[in-house]
Amino acid sequence: MKIAVLTGAGISAESGLKTFRDSNGLWEGHDVMEVASPEGFEKNPALVLDFYNQRRQQLLEVTPNAAHLALAQLETHHEVVIITQNVDDLHERAGSTRIIHLHGELLKVRSTFDENLVMDWKKDLNLGDYCEHNHQLRPHIVWFGEAVPMIEVAADLVAAADCILIIGTSMQVYPAAGLIQYASANTPAYFVDPNPSLSSSDQLTVLAEKATTGVPKVISQLLKH
Ligand code: APR
Repeated sequence: MKIAVLTGAGISAESGLKTFRDSNGLWEGHDVMEVASPEGFEKNPALVLDFYNQRRQQLLEVTPNAAHLALAQLETHHEVVIITQNVDDLHERAGSTRIIHLHGELLKVRSTFDENLVMDWKKDLNLGDYCEHNHQLRPHIVWFGEAVPMIEVAADLVAAADCILIIGTSMQVYPAAGLIQYASANTPAYFVDPNPSLSSSDQLTVLAEKATTGVPKVISQLLKH
C-alpha cells in the first residue's frame, strides 16, 4: 500500500521537543512574528538567529521516540512517504527514507542572496556567517508569510495514497492543515493525538492517545495487511 503520513510537533513531544500550541509551548514564550517571520528577521536578526540556535542545540541532544521508529518499520512492507511540518531530523534518524519537510529543516541554512544555496549546518548560526556570495546565512525554515514550496508535491502524494496517517498536529496552520482534503473520499485514515482536533468517521479512526503508544498500535495493524 501507498501510505502518506502527516506529522506535526506532537510526534516529537515525547522526544523532549516542545510543541507550539500546547501549554508551555514554543509560542507561549515568543511572539511568533518576532522570531518566525521575514519581518522579524529584518527587524532583529540576532533575536531570530538565537531562537533557532537554541532549538538546534536542543535537537542535537534528543533522540527519535517509538513513534518515529515504528513509522520507519512501516517501510519494510509498504510504500511510505512522511510529510512533516516538523523541522527536526528525528524521522531521518529513526530510519525513514522518504521525507518531505513542508516547513524546512533546522539543521540546514541558506543564503539570503540565493534561496537555492542551501547547506547542512549543525552549529550556531550568527550574524556575520556569510554564504559564498558574502550574504548573511539564514535558517532554512519556512517562516510565517513565506511560500511552502513542497505543498503541491505533498497534495499529489496524499491524493495517491491508499491510507493516511495523521500524527501529532493541531491542524491549525495552512496550507499543511488542508492536505487531508486531497485524500479521496474512501481512503482510510488514522489520527493519533491526545487532544484530537478531528472526530472519528467512517473513514477516520481517531486514537486519542500519545504518539508512542498510538502509532505502534496503528503500525502493527498495517503490517498485517
Ligand atoms: N503525542 C501525539 N500528539 C501530541 C503529543 C504526544 N505526546 N503531545 C501533544 N500532541 C499534539 C497536540 O495535542 C497538538 O494537537 O500535538 C499537536 C501539536 O500542535 P502544534 O503545537 O500546533 O504543532 P503543529 O500542529 O505541528 O504546528 C504546525 O505551526 O507554528 C507552526 O510551523 C509551525 O510546523 C508548525 C505548525
